[in-house]
Amino acid sequence: MKFFIDTANLAQIREANEMGVLDGVTTNPSLMAKENIRGEEACRRHYVEICNIVDGDVSAEVIATDFEGMVREGEELAALHPRIVVKLPCTAEGIRAVKYFSQKGIRTNCTLVFSPGQALLAAKAGATYVSPFVGRLDDICADGVELVRRIVEIYRYYGYATQVLAASIRHTQHIVACLDAGADVATCPLSAIKGLLRHPLTDSGLAAFLADHAKVNA
Ligand code: E4P
Repeated sequence: MKFFIDTANLAQIREANEMGVLDGVTTNPSLMAKENIRGEEACRRHYVEICNIVDGDVSAEVIATDFEGMVREGEELAALHPRIVVKLPCTAEGIRAVKYFSQKGIRTNCTLVFSPGQALLAAKAGATYVSPFVGRLDDICADGVELVRRIVEIYRYYGYATQVLAASIRHTQHIVACLDAGADVATCPLSAIKGLLRHPLTDSGLAAFLADHAKVNA
């Protein structure tokens, strides 16, 4: 399973990249706003900065909601850097834009996916990635991981090449559950990635090894 970090924060992206396990980055307009990046030019510079840190796909989301606007914006984003993946919402216009970009060989991430039917349309349109939102489904008492599992099963059964990118991951257990569900990618906050390392037996085992080493080397 590939690991993307779900942030526009450059320090966190660098930290995750230095761990040596990072395969890419996802951003969205809310994450860009959180970093206080204002204006089109600043956003574009920021995407290029991210691309220069990470050797992997970087999803940059369009703001337009109409087909022509999505195409214009997506083409500009894709031209910024070869690692950019154009992120488009799973609406009728967005699916049309996914199809347009896939025919032009431009990679896409179809986002805001909450049902198997939406995931089917994204795959049929040729999306590179489909992003089911795990945490937001859990927030309304639905089962986000179960959606990931169903999409993985449908894509495998019908042979769709679209990769299932589990998004809206909120904590470490979501990552492990998405791994079990067969997700191709999980995009996660840095804290959730670091959480994978945490185990009391690792800490106590290491402490005992170091104490024993110190005893004989005193
Ligand atoms: C990433 O592609 C999504 O935009 C992001 O994971 C959404 O996460 P949230 O539901 O925590 O805002």
